[in-house]
Amino acid sequence: MASLRASGVTAAIFSLLACSTVAAPPYGHNSNPFSNASWPLPRMVRGQNDTANANSTTQGWGGIHLHDPSLVLGPDGHYYSFSTHGLTVISRASEMGSIEGYWEILGSVLEAGSSVINSTGSTDPWAPDVHRVGDTYYDYYAVSQFGSQISSVGLATSKTLLPGSWTDHGAVISSSPDVSYPLNITNTIDPNLFVDPKTHTPFLNYGSFWADIYQFQLNPDLMAVRQDTAVQLSFDPVLPQAEEGAYMSYAGGWYYLWYSHGLCCGYNISALPTPGTEYSIRVGRSRSPSGPFVDMNGVDLTAGGGYIVFGSHDYVYGPGGQGVLSNYHGRDVLYYHYVNTIVDPLYYDNLKLLGWNYINYIDGWPVLSYN
Ligand SMILES: *[C@@H]1O[C@H](CO)[C@@H](O)[C@H](O)[C@H]1NC(C)=O
Ligand SMILES: *[C@@H]1O[C@H](CO)[C@@H](O)[C@H](O)[C@H]1NC(C)=O
Ligand SMILES: *[C@@H]1O[C@H](CO)[C@@H](O)[C@H](O)[C@H]1NC(C)=O
Ligand SMILES: *[C@@H]1O[C@H](CO)[C@@H](O)[C@H](O)[C@H]1NC(C)=O
Ligand SMILES: *[C@@H]1O[C@H](CO)[C@@H](O)[C@H](O)[C@H]1NC(C)=O
Ligand SMILES: *[C@@H]1O[C@H](CO)[C@@H](O)[C@H](O)[C@H]1NC(C)=O
Repeated sequence: MASLRASGVTAAIFSLLACSTVAAPPYGHNSNPFSNASWPLPRMVRGQNDTANANSTTQGWGGIHLHDPSLVLGPDGHYYSFSTHGLTVISRASEMGSIEGYWEILGSVLEAGSSVINSTGSTDPWAPDVHRVGDTYYDYYAVSQFGSQISSVGLATSKTLLPGSWTDHGAVISSSPDVSYPLNITNTIDPNLFVDPKTHTPFLNYGSFWADIYQFQLNPDLMAVRQDTAVQLSFDPVLPQAEEGAYMSYAGGWYYLWYSHGLCCGYNISALPTPGTEYSIRVGRSRSPSGPFVDMNGVDLTAGGGYIVFGSHDYVYGPGGQGVLSNYHGRDVLYYHYVNTIVDPLYYDNLKLLGWNYINYIDGWPVLSYN
């Protein structure tokens, strides 16, 4: 499935580039920047490597081993990362690069659990999404069970990002078959806060499988959604409707909707998913944060559109859980987790690595590069 889509995209972009008057892309004349052949290797990271706990579901995360990473610049000028599991593990590095930077594990956001976690009996917040708004950092996190649509997005806030500084505010939004539409058909995990840089309107993007990616506007206090503002941003009509992990970014007048497609985890090297159905990172763009988002073929993301900007290749398997770090020394960076099949030959979830690449925009379409 993945390679079929990639070749459709390839044909479209060749004609698009042929008619274009913009400068040639920063690649060789014979290489198509949108084909899988152009996907770069991930930039490596350095830091704590907690292999002792590698098979535990709640330990062994943080440092260089992350799942669904969220990265943000802290008030001390360091970069902070947040990971699924471990009550939202906090790590910190002075730089992304493996020479200057070293990811040190600091602790957790939800040290005492949260009201959402305690009420569901789960001990395992997923997919943190941390942003600075004003002088406060907002961490939206997900509480659910694998394969369930009975889920909540919770919120914790802090002024410093450090362990012990977080105030938990409990659930912002919840889904189940028994609540009102569209929360009865969606799955409130994988939250993503996006504040429109033009209008300052705050949005909460969310979703995983069940009707895929949805969006609500948030109240100005960012603690509850505005009813009657729901819109579907992306949907794969092909079962199992495997889209999740949405992340919205803005650059050059375009809103970008990134998402992870396919099966995230639990890979068994004796029985891997059919090639192309493992995690990959896809993207589309719009002139509005509420869509419609389209890919390079003009296919709406709600009709299965979205081109693969990064997928399995070389020693990279199942990249996803991505986000964008804007203006990292003047460049935009896409960060994600992936299985590095050299350091993790058995594809264990807990050895997934943080990876990152620079984003180039070619005619407004994002392409990853190593340099
Ligand atoms: C890249 O795309 C080509 C053509 O569609 C396909 O044959 C190949 O298997 C793909 N490679 C990867 C690593 O996905
Ligand atoms: C993790 O589990 C695998 C398979 O059960 C085992 O081979 C490996 O030794 C375990 N690693 C650790 C660090 O416990
Ligand atoms: C959650 O439960 C733990 C363990 O009982 C308790 O220490 C903690 O205070 C509770 N947290 C909240 C937010 O209720
Ligand atoms: C969701 O709610 C709507 C409106 O109440 C209802 O029409 C629909 O049947 C519900 N869907 C499911 C799957 O429960
Ligand atoms: C992995 O797949 C093999 C082959 O289907 C199966 O025998 C084995 O039980 C699986 N291992 C796990 C941990 O599910
Ligand atoms: C993590 O540590 C293990 C054990 O020392 C090592 O084999 C592995 O290569 C390290 N991983 C990375 C990415 O450095």
